Formats: sequence, structure tokens, C-alpha cells
Amino acid sequence: MKQIEEKIRDLQNRLRDHNYRYYILDNPTISDAEYDKLFRELQELEKAYPQFADTDSPTKRVGTVVLDAFDSLAHRIPMLSLANALNESELREFYHRIVKNTEKPKIELVGEPKLDGLGVELIYENGVFTAGATRGDGYTGEDITENLKTIRQIPLRLQGHLIPKLLEVRGEVIISEENFIRLNKEREAEEEKLFANPRNAAAGSLRQLDSRITARRPLEVFIYAPGKIEGLEFETHTAFINQLKAWGFRINPLNKLLHSEEEMISYFHEMEAQREKLPYDIDGVVIKVNTFSLQKTLGMRTRTPRWAIAGKFKARREITQIESIDVQVGRSGVLTPVANLKPVQLAGVLVRRVTLHNQDEIDRKDIRVYDWVIIERAGDVIPKVIKVITERRPKNTKPYHLPDTCPVCGARVQRVEGGVAVKCVHRDCPAQLKTGIQHFASKLAMNIEGLGEKIVDQLVDEGLIASVADLYTLDYHSLVPLDRFAEKSARKLLVSIQGSTTRSLAHVIYALGIPNIGEYLARVLAEQFGSVDALMNTNIDTLTAIDDIGEIVAESIVNFAADTDNRAMIDALKKHGINPRTDRRESAPLKNKIFVFSGTLSTLTRDEAKEMVRDLGGKASGSVSAKTDYLIAGEAAGSKLDDAKALNITILTEQEFIVLVQEYSGSPQKPKEQLKLF
Ligand code: IVH
Repeated sequence: MKQIEEKIRDLQNRLRDHNYRYYILDNPTISDAEYDKLFRELQELEKAYPQFADTDSPTKRVGTVVLDAFDSLAHRIPMLSLANALNESELREFYHRIVKNTEKPKIELVGEPKLDGLGVELIYENGVFTAGATRGDGYTGEDITENLKTIRQIPLRLQGHLIPKLLEVRGEVIISEENFIRLNKEREAEEEKLFANPRNAAAGSLRQLDSRITARRPLEVFIYAPGKIEGLEFETHTAFINQLKAWGFRINPLNKLLHSEEEMISYFHEMEAQREKLPYDIDGVVIKVNTFSLQKTLGMRTRTPRWAIAGKFKARREITQIESIDVQVGRSGVLTPVANLKPVQLAGVLVRRVTLHNQDEIDRKDIRVYDWVIIERAGDVIPKVIKVITERRPKNTKPYHLPDTCPVCGARVQRVEGGVAVKCVHRDCPAQLKTGIQHFASKLAMNIEGLGEKIVDQLVDEGLIASVADLYTLDYHSLVPLDRFAEKSARKLLVSIQGSTTRSLAHVIYALGIPNIGEYLARVLAEQFGSVDALMNTNIDTLTAIDDIGEIVAESIVNFAADTDNRAMIDALKKHGINPRTDRRESAPLKNKIFVFSGTLSTLTRDEAKEMVRDLGGKASGSVSAKTDYLIAGEAAGSKLDDAKALNITILTEQEFIVLVQEYSGSPQKPKEQLKLF
């Protein structure tokens, strides 16, 4: 028995070492076949003697666990984001600010590629990988331990010495360009939906509930930052990174120690020049102050540290050809021209279509079908046409004009008063109806799952629904015979439609699709009016007396309310039980509690904190009085704190406040619990 245990341990150690050489050092000493042989030998022995099959054995990376949902995992130290520098001079400003704030003539920095993947945290207890999470909202992520275990570049056990009691490290999970293309080819062959870019592919792969699927995805990782560490201290980021290397973590070889402002600037340009040649996407560089004590001195802003910055690269441009121009009809009937392009990769995204906005834009740039155009994508924003390369214009092209009639219903189109848009005048145009239903069902509105574009098209085209209220008349027998429905999807949709009848007033107001009423104004209106009826019976003066509401919005609401069709829709919705009387806030757990904030908050912005209070029905006030329930004392809280003490008001730290809010708003996993219903 002893011999068998030794044999198993020996195989585990040898495979660990080969993994390290292969995945981290990129320098294997045995062939794949030899590796496979050792691996299988260990697998068989562990199967026969499961008492020796440690959970961190190299055989445990194939993915074994299938979950119902991810647990959430709170970060011991929040995972912050970074402020951006959009050009060289903003990087210089960053440097000068640091020199000024630290009163040091020269600052040592570290430059690192800014990887465009998914931030994760890895937790090691006494050298063994015990848990890992996504970044989530920065405070709480999802527990994706099982999936992370399948990534060969993540050590399951630290090698070497100085193993701390607790080690948290942060890094980025990515998929290389080459693997992304291969993965999408495989998916195309299987008729599965394609990933838009490597980052989405990495995110989608990491957030699989079935870790066996994750294990088959070509995920990679680079580690770049510490979380909480107990039992060991470092003076500098470079010392920390060097120790990570010794423990067996994968570190980006392009990281560089920078000794001056000029070196920082050169690093930024060097990386920008190398960007296209790298096997993975980067969208900038991250510059960090190397000395931890200086990082501490510099401290944080609300959500970002003062000791680090992301130097973002310029948007990527590409040249491609317009193959055709489609016209889409939106919820309000506005016609939008959309160009179909010869597909091109642009900053990691395959771009096939780009909006041309309106006729004025087309005229200004003289955009024609078959033109070659320069398109650009800045950061994450939607690609746009920068200009036409007229030198490459094929012969016999003609200027493009939007049609005079609606491409969907054939009705006349009309220029929107005072604007550049043209609109279909037919109010029952199926295109408007369809987009209106999609809006009604969308997440921030009624949150009806399973009502995608195709399904809505089908329901309208089959004559099953002619208004949003008709959704509530759908039944199992009418859905099941339809093409896109099976028993399960039909039931799921009906449950989701039924579930939507309890949406809050703000959601319902937003769902109505009143022109100019976004999600925020819908909440304001819900709070002010308390019911859809009250809102429908209001007038311009009452509306414009509300803080956030101006003339245009007020008119928009009154016009909407004056329309008999809209009234009929609201009546029909009421008949189906959608008639929220008061907003959810009214019954909220912090109802009428008054919060006052003082001093600087370190993890939240003031606005975010106030928003949290309001979301739970509380009020945020600017000054302390006997009516105040809580004072949140940030850093350097001044006289308000003294007042609160004098009045014996409950005083909370920012952290205590966050805990309080989390308690009242329920677990952050709420949406997932709902999903489990199905
Ligand atoms: S350091 C406060 N280093 O960028 C320190 N982040 O906006 C923040 N990222 O979500 C992390 N490459 O996922 C750091 N070399 C790098 C990085 C990096 C990519 C991502 C990270 C984070 C975001 C910050």
C-alpha cells in the first residue's frame, strides 16, 4: 500500500512538473504521447485507490462537476477598476500627479499589457488552490472554482518555498486569437451561436455550469495583482510578481520595470506597436506604482486607485466594402439605414453591419452601396463609418436615398418635425408593433424571457398577438404547434409572461414605451404618481414641476396619454392584472429611513450610495437632523459626524453601510434563484 501511495505521489509530482514546463515555461521536456501515458497511468491508479486521489491532483483538471447555479463569493478586498488615460498627455498627467502627491522626484513604475479578457481572483490556503471567482461587481463575484481548476496554467498547488497561510491573486483569463477563430469554426460546424470576440468566448467558457465544457475550451491565464495575503509581505510589485513566478504562476513576459516618465511613454508606444503581433487581444497598458508603501500613500478614488492607470490604445480602423443597405423600422416608426459589410475583424470583433443613422449622415459622407469605407470601433462602442474612400469607388454607383414608403408595411414616410429622421406614418405597422413588443418584454421592462426577435416576429406574423396586452392571452395550445416552440420552451415562456404581471410600477411605466421615457425617468414617474392611471391623467404643469422633467418629456407623456389606442392598451393590461398601484419602493425595507453621507467614501461614489438607499425606499438627505436615522461616515467626515454624535444617531462606516444594504436587498443571487424555477 505504501508503495502504491508513493507511486501515485510520484506520478502526481511528475505530471505537475511537466504541466509547469509545458504551460508556464513553454518548454516541455517530454512528448505529448509520453505525457498522456503518465496521465493515464495516474488516472487508473487513482481510480483503483481513490483514498490517494487528492483534489489537487493533475487528473482533476478535466472537469467533473456540473452545477445548478454559481454561488456568490465576496472578495475580501474589492476588485477595483482602473481610470483611463486616453493619450500620451493623460499618461504624463498621471505621472506628474504622482510626483506631486508623493513629493518624490522620480517614481518607479511597472508597465503591463492590459489584457482584454475576464478578471478573476484565485485563492490559495496553505499553498493549495481552494477557490476562485469572477470579478463580478467588484465586491462579489461568482464562485467558478471548478471551472478555474480546468485551466492548466493555474497551479492547483504552489511550488517552492515561503508558502503563505492565505494568498489571493488576481489575473485575467483570456483566449488567444488563434484559438478563438478555431473555436468559432467548430461552433459554426455544429451550428452553434458564434462568439463575438475572444473576450466573450473566454467569459462564456468560464461561466459554464458544466465544468467539463470549460475543460475543453482553450483558456489561458496571466496573473498580475495581489488580493489579500496573510503571512508574507512584499515591498514592491516586482518582488511580488517574482515570487509568483517562483510559485509557478504564469506572468506576462512583456511586463516591464519603468524608471522614468519617458520610459513609461516609450512602453506605451512599444506595446501599441506590438499589439497586432501579439497572439491575444490587449486594449492598452496598465501602469502601476511599483512600491507598495507609495501605493498606500496615494490611496484610492471612489472606485479606482490613484496609483495605477490604464493607458488605452486608439480605436482600431479597418477598410471594407458595403455590400448592401437595409432599412430597419424601429419602435417609434423611424427608418434607420444599416449597411451590410464584407465582414471584417475590428478590435477583436467580427463586424458585419454598421448603422448609417439617417439620410443626412449618408448625404454628408456620400455613402453608396459598393463603396469602400473606413470603419472604426473605439473601445467597446458600436462601429461607425468614418469616411468613404472615393478613390476606390466602383463605376456606376448612385447616391443612396431612403425609400419614400415604409419597407415593412408600404405606408408613406414623413420627416420627423425638426429632426433628421423619417418615420412611417402607419400606426399599426407590424415593424413598430414588433419592436414595441420587444421593448415591452426587455429585461429592464417586463423582463419576459424567451421573447427574442424571431419569436416576436412569429407571434405577430401568425396573428397570435396584435398588441403587448395580447401576450397575456397566449396559452399552451396556441404556442406548441408553432415552429420555434417545444413543450418546454412554451411552458417557460408562459411562466415568464405570468411572472411579469408582478413587475413594479417603474418597470411597467418604462415598458409602455412612452417616447423619451427611459428607465430612470420611469422610476421618477413611478415615485411621483404611484399608478399608471395617475400618470395618464396628469397635465403639463404637474409634470414640469417635477425636478427631472422638462417640456419635451412632459409633452411626450401628455400626448401618449391622449391617444385612445394607448388608453386601450393600458386598460387591456389592467384586465390582465397589470396594474401596480405603488412602486415597490413603497413597501421597501428602508421605507422612510433617512440617510446622511459625510466625508469621502472609498468604494462607492456618493451617487451610487444614494441610489442604493433610494432603491430600498430610503431617503438620502444632505444635513443631519433629529429625523436622521443613519449617518454614513466616510474618510474625513466633518461637522455632520459631530452633529450625528450629538444627536445620538446611528453611525455606520462605509463597509457597514454596504453590509446593511446587502442584507436588505437580499442575496445578490436573486436572479439565479428565479432561473432555477424552470
Ligand atoms: S491590475 C487596481 N493589471 O483591467 C488594479 N488589471 O480596469 C486593477 N486588466 O478588471 C487590476 N490587464 O481585469 C491589472 N495587467 C493588468 C491588467 C488588468 C487587464 C483588467 C482587469 C480589470 C481591468 C481594470
